[in-house]
Amino acid sequence: MKLAVYPGSFDPVTNGHVDLIERSCRIFDRVLVAVLINTEKSPHFTVEERIGMLREIFRRNPKVKVKSFSGLLVDFLRKEKTNIVVRGLRVVSDFEFEFQMALMNRRLDREVETVFLTPREDLSYLSSRLVKEVHRLGGDVSGLVPSLVHRALEQKLPNGKPGKS
Ligand code: PNS
Repeated sequence: MKLAVYPGSFDPVTNGHVDLIERSCRIFDRVLVAVLINTEKSPHFTVEERIGMLREIFRRNPKVKVKSFSGLLVDFLRKEKTNIVVRGLRVVSDFEFEFQMALMNRRLDREVETVFLTPREDLSYLSSRLVKEVHRLGGDVSGLVPSLVHRALEQKLPNGKPGKS
């Protein structure tokens, strides 16, 4: 049984993340989405909200589980008894940070392997940060995030569209 951990902030989960999780399911037996409990960043959605949205999106996919984690990713991997990390590589600018993380994780634990997957090309420019910014400024983010995330954004973040608060 190959278990892959897909760690991230998921604040909020985008269609790019969903695409990557679905791709991972085609390669691994099980995929554990690990939501970071951010201590430094101040997330828009609480960890419970982020986990709730992910669980709802994948409720019909028995291969996908969602948990939170804090501390070092390598410690979480040991706890979950796996050495496989999945990360997405969208554009060249992702590479430097992802490369550093992969090598640091391997330095912390020689067993850890990071597998990079590329998302669907039409989603390769997408990020949680841009989604929040575009939504906040009144842009349309439907089609970029699952519909339940869109609704959650509408409730949580004021949208700059005329006529809306
Ligand atoms: O979605 P993000 O914010 O790009 O995800 C980053 C994440 C959660 C994968 C990364 O910050 C992480 O693994 N944090 C846990 C702390 C850790 O292990 N740091 C050392 C590895 S570089």
